[in-house]
Amino acid sequence: MEDPGPGPGRSDRPLALITGGGTGLGRAIGQRLARSGYDLVIASRSADHLAEGGRRLREGGGRVAEIPLDVRKPEEVDAAFARVNREFGRLDLLVNNAAGNFVAPAETISPNGWRAVVGIVLDGTFFCSRAAFPLLARSPGASIVNIVASYAWMAGPGTAHSAAAKAGVLALTRSLAVEWAARGIRVNAVAPGPVRTEGTDARLWRSDALVEEISRGIPLGRFGTPEEIAEAVEFLASDRARYITGQVLAVDGGQWLGRGVMDLLARAGDGPSR
Ligand code: COA
Repeated sequence: MEDPGPGPGRSDRPLALITGGGTGLGRAIGQRLARSGYDLVIASRSADHLAEGGRRLREGGGRVAEIPLDVRKPEEVDAAFARVNREFGRLDLLVNNAAGNFVAPAETISPNGWRAVVGIVLDGTFFCSRAAFPLLARSPGASIVNIVASYAWMAGPGTAHSAAAKAGVLALTRSLAVEWAARGIRVNAVAPGPVRTEGTDARLWRSDALVEEISRGIPLGRFGTPEEIAEAVEFLASDRARYITGQVLAVDGGQWLGRGVMDLLARAGDGPSR
């Protein structure tokens, strides 16, 4: 992508663009970044999510712009970043957070279902990163943070499409980290463990029994909070992480490491009490 040069509306404050920034994790990341002095652009396919997210984020007092965007559509993505350049004249941080997922055995996933998830997660991350590149390259200390999941490097039974897409995002994270280091752009990823938001409560964690069962498999014994994930994103984007690139930070209470034999013994009723 060529640099069109800064637009007329150049802001003094750093600017972060968060895809899927109207709800859940994306909104929590926005709230954390706003407290660190960022102006925000949130992008989403849903007008309702944008309106509600924008309203909630403005309560923090900063500048917040909302851009309707389907990250699967490269023309829409290019237009969105052109608008960011016109209205803000800069971009310092891109958070590729937009995701789509559903639980289904792999053999039942239709080609459209596969394309929907891989399109949002993998294509969307690439299209947004590519369109952000000229703006980020102009900003000292710019970075990208991609939201992945530990099944990017493990296995994602029941969510094969999402696991394949997140694995792609992880490979993209590392590839762009090396390619764009010379342009001063760091590229990292955060892998959240299970987190409760309105969206995940409705879609995934539908009963207290399920939450308890999952929590038992997490060494730290509980779900994460959106704020804990947002802290990691803010850190990786900050100057405190200026020598970190191409890395993935799991914020999951140790979940991906598993509980090994301790879990087996506990399930057999023969485990230690912890
Ligand atoms: N099980 C099986 N197939 C499903 C499904 C489910 N629960 N949900 C959607 N699909 C299939 C649809 O049937 C369709 O395939 P088909 O044309 O062969 O029937 C395909 O996926 C696309 O569905 P559609 O609803 O048209 O796509 P969309 O672009 O509007 O939605 C999704 C994208 C599928 C990812 C949707 O779940 C979504 O938007 N989720 C919200 C965001 C989200 O999931 N976040 C999760 C973060 S963990």
